[in-house]
Amino acid sequence: MIPHDVADLGLAGVGKNRIEWAEQWMPVLRLIRERFEKEKPLLGQTLVACLHVTTETANLMRTLKAGGANVALCASNPLSTQDDVAASLVCDYGISTFAIKGEDRDTYYRHINSALDFGPSITMDDGADTVSVIHSERKNLVEKIVGGTEETTTGVIRLRAMERDGVLLYPIVAVNDALTKHLFDNRYGTGQSTLDGIIRATNFLIAGSTVVVAGYGWCGRGFAMRAKGMGARVIVTEVDPLKSLEAVMDGFEVMPMVEAACLGDIFCTLTGDINVIRPEHFLAMKDRAIVCNSGHFNVELDLDGLAQMAAARREAREFVEEFTLADGKKIFVLGEGRLINLASAEGHPASVMDMSFANQALSAEYMAKNAASLENRVYPVPADLDANVAALKLKALGVKIDTLTEEQQKYLSSWNMGT
Ligand code: ADE
Repeated sequence: MIPHDVADLGLAGVGKNRIEWAEQWMPVLRLIRERFEKEKPLLGQTLVACLHVTTETANLMRTLKAGGANVALCASNPLSTQDDVAASLVCDYGISTFAIKGEDRDTYYRHINSALDFGPSITMDDGADTVSVIHSERKNLVEKIVGGTEETTTGVIRLRAMERDGVLLYPIVAVNDALTKHLFDNRYGTGQSTLDGIIRATNFLIAGSTVVVAGYGWCGRGFAMRAKGMGARVIVTEVDPLKSLEAVMDGFEVMPMVEAACLGDIFCTLTGDINVIRPEHFLAMKDRAIVCNSGHFNVELDLDGLAQMAAARREAREFVEEFTLADGKKIFVLGEGRLINLASAEGHPASVMDMSFANQALSAEYMAKNAASLENRVYPVPADLDANVAALKLKALGVKIDTLTEEQQKYLSSWNMGT
């Protein structure tokens, strides 16, 4: 048996069915996999991936392996692993996987280190945790690494900080910044899966409720749009004047969290920043307020602060912790403040992950081919690759579009044709 650490290999059958289900809505990734099978662009590469272990990720792993890479996978969040998928990856697809849903912090980092023991030449992150471990504890691995890729906004922010401080030791492609990634995954993926997570955890009626959305980046606006669509009154909190103005003109109420705190039934943070909801906000909330996070790290809610204020706490139902304050008021925290769309739901649907992971697979190929000419910087996904993903997705969806006539092309490239 290949090296692995998963919850229960007996779940493999269920996992395989679910992986195959997701694959049906990942036509772009399928096309890439078929080409990779023939061309083997990743032959000789050892690819260590630290991603949410989901059905969609399983299909990405299959693609990378089809490309000739030796692949090892660990979780990018302690609560996001789908144990059946982890089992199937090991049993059915021969991919070493180190991930158990609900693992503690020590196990989480042990798993990252087990994957890193494979000696990566390419790292693939969602949140930059392998990059962080490599740069802080396992610098000896850098010699063999040609480059990496990064999936999410928070990871790209971390990597840009490393680049700015001159400490980044190998090039990384910022997959998040591809248009076919963040405009769709962050907006429509997060929008739907966050609501799905909240509903699965609570079975709360969204219609007629007041939903407070902290952060109006692509994730926040996707979630706000979908909450509004289900009949909620939506309040947005922001620190950025431009994004706040956009939220106003998109038809949302905008106010500081301290004012929103007493109005909300549901609070969701999607900011990428720390302690966005703090004790002063918890104190102002209504009885039975529901609080959760859909940002990458579990730092957006000050849960230590809440715990200190609480007279009692207990599990009210799966993924819901009830904190009772001194005055008897209850606050419900979902999924330990970890990203709720993956903690209590299944993450973004396959159709949107298709584009994100097409970018990942193509960026890994790009890294394998071009790393020698790259510096230790954060690079965008090449624009032609990004545009190709959009074209392939449209084709797969059966959507045809117009092409420019010769006259139109000439007009667009001219500067002297006016009224
Ligand atoms: N991030 C958000 N949703 C995801 C999914 N379904 N698979 C992997 N990563 C994700």
